Amino acid sequence: MAATRASASIDTLVAFAKRRGFVFLSSEIYGGFAAVYDYGPYGALLARNIRDAWWRAMVQEHANIVGLDSSIFMSPRVWEASGHVANFSDPLAECKRCHTRVRVDHLLEVAGVFADEKMSDEEINVLLRENKEKVRCPQCGGSDFSDAKAFNLLVQSNLGNFTGDWNKQPTYLRGETCQGIYVNFKNVLDTARVKVPFGIAQIGKAFRNEITARQFIFRKREFEQMEMQYFVAPDAMMDAYKEWRAKRWHFYTETLGFRKENIRWHEHENLVFYAKAAHDIEYCFPFGFKELEGVHARGDYDLMQHMKASGVDLMYRDPQTGEKYIPHIVETSVGVDRLFLAVLTEAYEEEDLGEGKTRTVLHLPKVLAPITAAVFPLMKNKPALVTKAREVFDMLSAQYMCEFDDNGNVGKRYRRQDEIGTPYCVTIDFQTLEDNTVTVRDRDTMHQERVAIDMISEYIRKNK
Ligand code: GAP
Repeated sequence: MAATRASASIDTLVAFAKRRGFVFLSSEIYGGFAAVYDYGPYGALLARNIRDAWWRAMVQEHANIVGLDSSIFMSPRVWEASGHVANFSDPLAECKRCHTRVRVDHLLEVAGVFADEKMSDEEINVLLRENKEKVRCPQCGGSDFSDAKAFNLLVQSNLGNFTGDWNKQPTYLRGETCQGIYVNFKNVLDTARVKVPFGIAQIGKAFRNEITARQFIFRKREFEQMEMQYFVAPDAMMDAYKEWRAKRWHFYTETLGFRKENIRWHEHENLVFYAKAAHDIEYCFPFGFKELEGVHARGDYDLMQHMKASGVDLMYRDPQTGEKYIPHIVETSVGVDRLFLAVLTEAYEEEDLGEGKTRTVLHLPKVLAPITAAVFPLMKNKPALVTKAREVFDMLSAQYMCEFDDNGNVGKRYRRQDEIGTPYCVTIDFQTLEDNTVTVRDRDTMHQERVAIDMISEYIRKNK
């Protein structure tokens, strides 16, 4: 069998995701809404399984990590203290010919010049001038650009502004979820019986006024983050950093089974001034290796900023030594949507079955598959088969996400389930009526086994 996995173009994945109800353009009947997407029935299930897998690996499997669900809206003072109001920006330049505004780091990247995201505006402008001959406007092809200006990415709202006073400080939709963790640090410490080292994890929506937004769900304006902040003693930070890098690598390569050639580390060369070390895990998306997750040693910057701005003591007192300090932080941060795209890229295959036959199959890790088992009566016009199949569906769906399908021949039903990555297809046939066994067909090997009805659940659990 010739495998062409991970070679699908982004256009193929976009079309596939729409056709099989994974991802839709937002407000599509109105022509769409830039960089905003909706998850369809299978997409919603896949996204939910991605969140669950992360939560299990981070919260459930760590006795010293607790969960949090903080609000999207926070006091505007949070975003002042964190530095987002002043510094959370992308460098934007305007094409002098057609007036299109473009992110300069992306212009340079297309021209083969690497600009680190953490570069100052001045450094970016120097690069832009040095490479004037190489950069091209994506709209008109022009190469004459204004100097880059910082464009703030925070999304503003008018929440609570009942007077319509535009001089009033706006309320922002959160630009990252971790600020909700920092401002709840003391609440968690005082209530959750945790001791340093410990972590707080949360999954939630974040919003950014992204300028370049033409990479499907890789870069959205409304997206979801899964972030964990690990609080440690200052001298323990670099060890914790090493430990979390290893754990997050394990999550991708072992838990999710990403192939090693599709994933790599990228070490930041230009660190933000407070960071001690920063690595990204990059995945080989259809448009090349790009950041999937960040693992950063952030020092005491975040808690220090909030302590200074709020006036509330966020120091930790070591119960053994009595020593007081501001905990240092190791952060792990990944987007649900970006991981969704990586998972889809990794799993998608147009498989050559020989003799001119092909199938599209998603080799999803079983824990992520939207549907775990599809249940088929061999024929829909045989009431005894349909009744039995309904019974099997009711039994399995109490434990697993299942789908009932009696439409078309079984071969076609297999293909439909292969496309959405269903690991098991359970067929109720005439033999079932005699001996209470069914066939269970495996998505990847396409082999079928006869299994007793009361053992199917165990069979799936064992092979899951
Ligand atoms: N708290 C740190 C932080 O927010 P970030 O590198 O800006 O750092 C972390 O974002 C992760 O969030 C990224 O690695 C990516 O997976 C995801 N992410 C960031 N911006 C995104 C966007 N516009 N669309 C989808 N995912 C995004």
